[in-house]
Amino acid sequence: MTSLTVIGLQWGDEGKGKIVDIAAAEADAIVRFQGGNNAGHTVMHGNAVFKLSQLPSGILRPGKQAIIGNGVVLDPEGLESEIESLRRADVEISPDTLAIASNACLILPLHRELDALRERLSGAARIGTTGKGIGPAYEDKIGRRAIRVGDLDQPDRLTAMVDRLLDHHNCLRTGMNVETVPRDALLATLGRYRSILAPYGAAADERIHAIAAGGGRILLEGAQGSLLDIDHGTYPFVTSSSTVAGSAAAGVGLGPGLLGTVLGVCKAYTTRVGEGPFPTEQDNADGAWLCERGKEFGTVTGRKRRCGWLDLVMLRATCRLSGVDGLALMKLDVLDGLKEIRLCTGYGPGDEEAEVLAIGQRMMAPVEPVYEVLPGWSESTEGARKRSDLPAAARHYLDRIEEITETPIWCLSTSPQRMNLIRCRDEGFFR
Ligand code: GDP
Ligand code: IMO
Ligand code: MG
Repeated sequence: MTSLTVIGLQWGDEGKGKIVDIAAAEADAIVRFQGGNNAGHTVMHGNAVFKLSQLPSGILRPGKQAIIGNGVVLDPEGLESEIESLRRADVEISPDTLAIASNACLILPLHRELDALRERLSGAARIGTTGKGIGPAYEDKIGRRAIRVGDLDQPDRLTAMVDRLLDHHNCLRTGMNVETVPRDALLATLGRYRSILAPYGAAADERIHAIAAGGGRILLEGAQGSLLDIDHGTYPFVTSSSTVAGSAAAGVGLGPGLLGTVLGVCKAYTTRVGEGPFPTEQDNADGAWLCERGKEFGTVTGRKRRCGWLDLVMLRATCRLSGVDGLALMKLDVLDGLKEIRLCTGYGPGDEEAEVLAIGQRMMAPVEPVYEVLPGWSESTEGARKRSDLPAAARHYLDRIEEITETPIWCLSTSPQRMNLIRCRDEGFFR
């Protein structure tokens, strides 16, 4: 068996969806291993735009196995509407090609409500979550009171589980001055979820292991980005799951020895949605240019993304965190036409002591980015077929990224479309 793990190296929205859609052509199965419907992965085929949230982006490739792994928190209502909207766009989704891990935890309406309430009560200290209930759902998982996909088929046990869950949540809700949730209402909701999920209840891990045993290719699709990782990110301004490549093994139930190549996806610049530090943020005309040219508005919430220069201190660290073998550098075309481009290569005086900290912690103190100023290029890079066809200044920019991160660029993206991807090496994505 060979595997390819695709992860984001920044704060999410790097373009993972486009890369997974392309790499899925070489895979037998595409598996999501963490996160939930806080993810928004966009794939464009001509004029058709697909927004994948809980389904692996490989679902768009007919005949491939799409699997939602145990590390994911699953919102059945969101999944139902995602499946319906893809079916309207003629994407085939059937129990033969989609399976959901029975030990994945559910996101319930009370999780979304708690997420929203907490954000509202936090005022200026809010995280800026996607409001999908991700944090509260993972809290219940770790608190050992979550309802999992497979529990829906065990009506005899479900009432006791619901009581246990509601003991916790109704205390919180009373303290926050909101109505408690009646047991019967939640049981009715779970009954509805059971009928939504029932068709996809095939043993997901059996499917994965059968493909592995048969020497197949498994693509592990990450969501969010490394600086949103619960341990390594800009805590507390992070998501509630582990987003680094190492979590792929636990998130699907594969031995770590079976994890093969790691492809790290990053933009040619940096963006962030929500609150938290962002050393290279450009709250000025350069940031506005990147936002406008890059159409930087969130897929999930529609929020404007904060924009700034590429941060190589961060990229070097996130490559190391996940043992990234190669980079997929996205949205190079967005930089076309800039007179000069900045690359952050250090965090300036005062940061020396912080160098002992993990990258996310290091960013929590004010840092002063040190920039290397590079000439821009006026030509369009969109649709270039080879790296050598790119303007000399663009090639120089790419060389500096490789030198400083000590990681080779394996592919370069110059538009949202599938065909506009330059492969920088001869082999496929799976080694
Ligand atoms: P993901 O969450 O990592 O899958 O990324 P998103 O889909 O949230 O955001 C990436 C956005 O950039 C999407 O709208 C993509 O269609 C778009 N995109 C991907 N690659 C390129 C590229 O090379 N150039 C441009 N201009 N847009 C791109
Ligand atoms: P994809 O997979 C960008 C951010 C939110 C917020 C923080 C916590 O599309 O790259 P959460 O709802 O997870 O509790 O929010 O994480 N966030 C993302 N930002 N892309 C994402 O996913 C994100 N998923 C969560 O904006 O700052
Ligand atoms: Mg996204």
